[in-house]
Amino acid sequence: MDELEAVLAVASDEVAATQSLAELEELETRLTGRKSALAELRRGLSKLDESERPAVGARLNAVAEELAALVGSRRRILEREAEDRLLADDAVDITLPGVGYRTGTHHLITQTIDEVVDIFVALGYQVATGPEIETSWHNFDALNTPWWHPSRLDSDTMYVDYGESDDELPLRTHTSPVQARVMMAQDPPVYVVVPGRTYRTDTFDAAHSPVFHQMEGLAVADGITFGDLKGTLAHFAREYFGKERTIELIPHFFPFTEPSAEMHVSCFNCDGSGCPVCGRSGWIELLGCGMVDPNVFEAVGYDPAEVTGFAFGGGIERIAMVRHGITDIRHFFDNDLRVNRQYI
Ligand code: DAH
Repeated sequence: MDELEAVLAVASDEVAATQSLAELEELETRLTGRKSALAELRRGLSKLDESERPAVGARLNAVAEELAALVGSRRRILEREAEDRLLADDAVDITLPGVGYRTGTHHLITQTIDEVVDIFVALGYQVATGPEIETSWHNFDALNTPWWHPSRLDSDTMYVDYGESDDELPLRTHTSPVQARVMMAQDPPVYVVVPGRTYRTDTFDAAHSPVFHQMEGLAVADGITFGDLKGTLAHFAREYFGKERTIELIPHFFPFTEPSAEMHVSCFNCDGSGCPVCGRSGWIELLGCGMVDPNVFEAVGYDPAEVTGFAFGGGIERIAMVRHGITDIRHFFDNDLRVNRQYI
């Protein structure tokens, strides 16, 4: 019994000192398990004198209950602590900044094409595309370009060497051949824009790239006039460069339009007074245009007595460079993300 009282005397401190449920369980086994002093005494009860048995038995039970109560209350504390720790570990601090993911973006060329196409789609135009490997007929002949025209030479145009072919196969030098393809595939009226990649025998430098992009426009119907061309291009200039913009059409020559013109837009940077963006002239040269030459209509099977039309075409890189103040065309193709990320 003395031994048991001694165990009970320190049990309270021992229980309080346990730091985990596992430690507590170990202690509980030592205090009340099969090999504990308590169990030993219980087993010895029968050997006691009949007169001593009730008192000793009662004390044994009381001590057992006390130990169980001590262990039980410590267990509840340790369980709550464990639970609190779990919650703390799992806690999410919603005031911390989130993990950001950098999403991709369209290349500035694609953005520019999309923006220009949208302006014409809003006017009712459709979008057409054509092959990048063309026939000389579509790229030149159908567009009223004589056989001797220097633009057909290797010095201007790259050709694909593709076995036997009825015609030469240039990499298209402009998007204009799609004019012929669209007109041959459908009856008038035609309202299309044609964005796409084009190729010329140029050395890659600040102002030239052998691969670049153009966008063509074509409107053909009964009674289309040069005034329609001018109004359409003025609308485009205002939509793309700002509503203050005006345009001028300067006479020029293209084989496939007659008359032909070069479209200039008043400089959005200096409003026409002259600055580095417009080369001090106040005007920015943007694209070529004109009234579709009757010879083109004849080549594609349209009757020039029935329809008239206008066409225009210009470089996408040029438009983007002017608008964003980019001075080197190579920035479009170098894939330097520091450049690309400026136009997200
Ligand atoms: N295809 C011409 C070029 O690449 C641009 C052009 C001029 C397109 C006049 C046209 C046009 O449709 O009418 O320089």
